[in-house]
This record gives sequence, structure tokens and C-alpha cells, in this order.
Amino acid sequence: MEVILAKHAGFCFGVKRATHLAFDAADKGGDTYTLGPIIHSPQVVQRLEEMGVKSVEDVGEIKNGSTVIIRSHGVAAEELEAAVRADLAIVDATCPFVKKAQEHVATLSREGYDVVVVGDAVHPEVQGIVSYATGRVYVVSSGKDVERLPRMAKMGVVAQTTQSFEHLNEVVTACLARGGETRVYNTICDATAVRQEETKKLAGEVDCMIVIGGFNSANTRRLAQICRELLPRTHHIETAGQIDPAWFEGVQRVGVTAGASTPKWLIDEVTERISAIDKDKIG
Ligand code: F3S
Repeated sequence: MEVILAKHAGFCFGVKRATHLAFDAADKGGDTYTLGPIIHSPQVVQRLEEMGVKSVEDVGEIKNGSTVIIRSHGVAAEELEAAVRADLAIVDATCPFVKKAQEHVATLSREGYDVVVVGDAVHPEVQGIVSYATGRVYVVSSGKDVERLPRMAKMGVVAQTTQSFEHLNEVVTACLARGGETRVYNTICDATAVRQEETKKLAGEVDCMIVIGGFNSANTRRLAQICRELLPRTHHIETAGQIDPAWFEGVQRVGVTAGASTPKWLIDEVTERISAIDKDKIG
């Protein structure tokens, strides 16, 4: 059985950076916290917990003088201010691409634009981005949503970093159709698109796909969905222990991909497990 691993499987730039910063902070010891899970990987969060890093939901739960690590998709402006007020040592692991989107929103508001954020309103990244607006701000998920917005003389558009370009384009077209001035910042990070394109291609070339990543990771779930549409023999797992050898009956080629928050060690464990199952079959 041939095992083909997608070239860009696993950590994107921002998650890699956040994870390094978090493990470095944990190594230094002392009371260390994250505001919400640092990345959407329960296994990484667990490793950090074993090193004494606690995940809390609110700055109020953190002892004064501790270190707080800000997760890769950022937090709300008020939370960051509360951490500064509480005299916490801040390790800001917000991905620089997310930071850019937050900064654009702050600038647009300051310059008198109403802000339109293209994204998922309940996603913590979007809630963080929105919090940087000091004027009117709306979250939309489609061109149709734009039609329901009040009249705006000056509109500024930014996107959740994981949106597709087509989606941003649809919203911008709807904004332009309303008239008024429209300023657009393309804040999409292509790490997601690259992984999706590559996964789509791989799913078309194999008999079975294994997608590794947190069940709470939206980008991993999306990869699994893309694969399933092309190949019903797709399995989304978090760890090698969840693999069922029966999945590989009659399989010649198996494709493996992983979400942007999946660490290399989990990917290695999965590919090793598949190879071991193959050896057992032959033996
Ligand atoms: Fe950053 Fe893009 Fe990853 S925004 S966290 S590099 S998916």
C-alpha cells in the first residue's frame, strides 16, 4: 500500500510560531496561562497542560504577575487591555496575518468607515477582529447579507483570514453595487487555500483519505468535507489510535493530509501506524 502525504499537511506559519512561543514560555516555568486553547489541537493543549500551562476563558481567572499567552487567532481588544491592566507578562502569539486584519479594522473605524467583516460571526478570530472597530461594524457571510445592511457612505471590508477569495469577491461585489465609497483589504491568508487545493488533488488520486486534526478545528473539518465529496472513503481522526485497519481493505494508495493546527508528531504517528498495518497484512 502506498502512503502519500500532502506536501503542506500540518502546521501553517502562524500556528508553528504560536506553538514555539507557547512551549518556550512553558519551558521558562512560573505561572503560565493561555486565554482559550492556544491552537485547535487538543493534543497540543494537553502537552502544554502537562508542562503546567493552564487554559482559562477569562483574564479574571489569572493570578497577578503570571504570564499569559495570546492564541494564534487572537483575542478581543478588551481582553488584551485587561491583561495589561492586571500586570500580566504577555506573550502575544497572535498570527501576524490576524494582527493585520485587526489593525485594518482599527484604522478604518478611525478614518470614519463602517466596517464589514467577511466571516463566521461566532468564530473567536472574527470576534477578536470585530472588537477593534470603534464605530459601526457588521459581520457578513455572503453577498445576500450585504443587501440587508443599513445605508453606508463609506464602507471598509476585511476578511477572516481563512475565507476563500471567491467569497470575499462576492461580498465586495455586493458592497460596490450599493454605491458609496468602498475600501477593501484582502486579509486572506493563503495557507488554507493551499491546503484545500492540494487535498482536493490528492483525494482524486487515491482510494482512501485520512484527514488528521482536532475535531474542533474548522479548517480540518473543511478538509475532511472536501475529501468526502470526492471520496466517500475519507476518515477524520485526531490520533493514530483511532485508525481501524478495516479501512484499508483493498486499498492500493492512501492519501494523508492534516489541518493547519495538527503537529508533525501526530502526522508521523499516523503514517507509521498505516505502514505497520500494511506490514501486518503482508506478513
Ligand atoms: Fe496565520 Fe494563516 Fe495560519 S492566518 S494562523 S498563517 S492559517
